[in-house]
Amino acid sequence: MPPVRIAPSLLSADFGRLADEVRRVEDAGADWLHVDVMDGHFVPNLTIGLPVVEALKKVARRPLDVHIMISDPLAYARRYVEAGAATLTFHAEATKEAGKVIDAIVAAGGQPAMALNPDTPIERVTPWLDRLSMVLVMSVFPGFGGQKFMPEVLPKLAALRRAGFRGDLEIDGGIGPATIAAAAQAGANVFVAGSAVFGAQDVPARIAELRRGAELAAATPAAAGR
Ligand code: DX5
Ligand code: ZN
Repeated sequence: MPPVRIAPSLLSADFGRLADEVRRVEDAGADWLHVDVMDGHFVPNLTIGLPVVEALKKVARRPLDVHIMISDPLAYARRYVEAGAATLTFHAEATKEAGKVIDAIVAAGGQPAMALNPDTPIERVTPWLDRLSMVLVMSVFPGFGGQKFMPEVLPKLAALRRAGFRGDLEIDGGIGPATIAAAAQAGANVFVAGSAVFGAQDVPARIAELRRGAELAAATPAAAGR
């Protein structure tokens, strides 16, 4: 199984002090920095674009895990990798040309990943599993931080592991101390957390708590699909 990784979502950071916020969560133990790109079309919110990803790349010491919630991933995939995305995650719902998007990401030197909305079945990614370094299972409908975790998506994680996927399995939305264990037991190993990290009084303690919760749950014999 790939290692547990905690990826704070910068969507919950103070956008007026992004470089400081990056340093703060890196010093607190973040493995990856999750960057939510929204286009106001695929999702009803507008957030970060290419210039901000470039700026983040200059100050980040940890890999940028860039999640593009945009309607035309093929038009932008190469540019987000060139801007600094280590992993670039696009939505299965956004394109009929997933193979071409994967090609563009790989050609630019990035790690390709695909995301599934809560109501999208895993069959939308299974044809591509051998080319993906990661699959992202959304546990909220994308668009906003601070939403409630949807446990009904968890069987998709276990099903992806049963389908033989050995890459990174990421979960995003409503992850915190109360929900991380169930996600880890179902097979997730990369955990995005926005409000749970940036809203904590003690950020290093919160990241350690999340990591401990994930590692303990992943090690229990009840872990699904294994
Ligand atoms: C939602 C974003 C998430 C969001 C998670 O559309 O993809 O990454 O920042 O925020 P929390 O952890 O607060 O649910
Ligand atoms: Zn995200």
